[in-house]
Amino acid sequence: MPLAMANNLQLIINKTSVINKKDILFLLQKKYNILPSHLVANNYNFVLNQQQLEDVEKIINNYPVEYILGECDFYGHNFAILPKVLIARFETELLVKAAIKYATPSAKIIEIGCGSGCLSICIAKHRPKAKIIALDIFPPAIQNTKQNIILHKIHNIFAILQNVKTFVKYRGVSFCNSDVVVSNPPYIKKSSFALLQQSVKSFESKFALVGEDNGLEIYKIILHKTLQGKKSLHICFEIGFDISTTLQAFINTQYHGIFKIVEIIKDFNNIDRVLVIKKI
Ligand SMILES: C[S@@+](CC[C@H](N)C(=O)[O-])C[C@H]1O[C@@H](n2cnc3c(N)ncnc32)[C@H](O)[C@@H]1O
Repeated sequence: MPLAMANNLQLIINKTSVINKKDILFLLQKKYNILPSHLVANNYNFVLNQQQLEDVEKIINNYPVEYILGECDFYGHNFAILPKVLIARFETELLVKAAIKYATPSAKIIEIGCGSGCLSICIAKHRPKAKIIALDIFPPAIQNTKQNIILHKIHNIFAILQNVKTFVKYRGVSFCNSDVVVSNPPYIKKSSFALLQQSVKSFESKFALVGEDNGLEIYKIILHKTLQGKKSLHICFEIGFDISTTLQAFINTQYHGIFKIVEIIKDFNNIDRVLVIKKI
């Protein structure tokens, strides 16, 4: 469809998918204060201006609406989101709940792969006396985390640009003395990347999603690095649907008597989504 000519929303809506339609209405409401009820009442007979048309065209080309708006919602809060930084998923809210559950008020917490910072920030809101180190290897992610820390007036998160492989200690917090390590690492298998939604494949960072070693690399690094950790240490991992069995088997065989799986949390589709591991 030559969009440049079709500036009437009705023509666009009639030809678009349900997902795109939902995002177009969401965008028009959020960015331009145009109520969906108003559009529906007029059978979408609405002439878009040039800027609105450009935004709608981006959605039709699968560009995520969150990147157009520069914001996303997570755990009941609003966060700034920069292009290419992973847009936090609804399921990840389960990981936040788990981390809060296992973190005492003054816990030392490390988050590996903080992305936009939303996970650490939600934890910090519930544990304002905790000390949280949020690290990520991707510069825009750390920039985004720092932006959200300011936006939410958080004072107990220290964000650093760092590869988990080389992380030792920051602001007195290390894998040896931390109480909670939390991570939603890149865990999608290389072979499964092609199956993702087009908008994810084209516009989010592949590096934030796909993990080496069949999606297990970062889990293995974290487990290895926390071997010298405190006895009470809890590790909260988000996991993919096809990772759970392999990761559990790996922990139970390689780390028998060292780590114990204490909780497996299922998501809204009844799929294992969060694994909580305790150092024993
Ligand atoms: C799935 S995203 C999670 C982002 C955010 N925590 C969330 O849940 O929305 C994984 C993040 O891990 C980061 N990452 C990948 N490899 C890393 C490494 N070796 N060290 C540190 N961070 C890494 C990516 O840049 C990305 O931001």
